[in-house]
Amino acid sequence: MAETIQGQGGLAIDVRQARYVYPSGNVVALGGVDLAVEHGEIIGIIGQNGSGKTTLTKLFNGLLKPTSGSVIINGIDTAKRTVQQMAPHVGYVFQNPNHQLFARTVQMELEFGPRNIGVPEDQIAERVAEAVEFFGLQEFVEEHPYRVSFPVRKLVGIASIVAMRPPIIIFDEPSTGQDHNTTHIINGLMRRLREQGTTVVCVSHDMPLLADVVERVIVMKSTEIIADASPREVFADKALMARTNLQAPQVTEIALETVVPLGGPVALTTEELAADIASRAGSKSKTSRSSATVR
Ligand SMILES: Nc1ncnc2c1ncn2[C@@H]1O[C@H](COP(=O)(O)OP(=O)(O)OP(=O)(O)O)[C@@H](O)[C@H]1O
Ligand SMILES: [Mg+2]
Repeated sequence: MAETIQGQGGLAIDVRQARYVYPSGNVVALGGVDLAVEHGEIIGIIGQNGSGKTTLTKLFNGLLKPTSGSVIINGIDTAKRTVQQMAPHVGYVFQNPNHQLFARTVQMELEFGPRNIGVPEDQIAERVAEAVEFFGLQEFVEEHPYRVSFPVRKLVGIASIVAMRPPIIIFDEPSTGQDHNTTHIINGLMRRLREQGTTVVCVSHDMPLLADVVERVIVMKSTEIIADASPREVFADKALMARTNLQAPQVTEIALETVVPLGGPVALTTEELAADIASRAGSKSKTSRSSATVR
């Protein structure tokens, strides 16, 4: 996966005072948002239903143009480009794969994106084969995308964008409706994209996924960004989580109630919490051993 379009200097995503008003019903969905994302950053966007997450990310690939303000992606002003022109720069994985998939077979679905952005035929075959293998789609390539299970259909939607190898990928709720196997694949994908230097924006309610893979979390509420910090800072902020009706990963909540008051870390993963508990148990058993020796 070497031959992506490289970042063009500057920022990957540069949003200034972007407002968006849906013409139908005159709904203000974004009320003047500023956001700067560097090339290679992996960010999460969280916020309660209707807070504007999907609207914001649809600005990134030009599906929506800001009502006012500017959205510059990879150095390109989206207001002056079609979605088709933005496609080589930014891939968009829809919340609902049914809004994205249209080809007759999974194989054709995977070929469409790369062909559409002008990738040579021999490279298309190689990219599709690689995606089929990475996403475990071997047994589904001849199937109609609508005949496979929802988790697999969702993977097809993700794979069809990944096969285009854009330098920026937007995921809207990638792990919703997933089973254990596909969640594992999505986790692995995020790690691989990070290694490759792809800029990733991941809208999600899946806090453990975000805790595991992102470096920065944007919190939205009622059309605005109200926080922008590391997952550890965001998930440890009980008032912020309550204000947005969101729940931190359970492991973080347990850590906040138990080891944090004792000076322990704000754990984001079970591994972190287990390591802290194990080190406490270890030092306690050493203490009790030594006091036994004294007796
Ligand atoms: N096509 C549309 N026409 C009119 N209003 C819309 C449209 N799509 C979204 N909205 C409104 O814009 C606001 C922001 O919606 P958006 O879908 O961006 O929120 P979200 O944070 O992605 O929510 P969710 O977590 O449910 O996906 C909401 O008030 C929503 O009702
Ligand atoms: Mg949404």
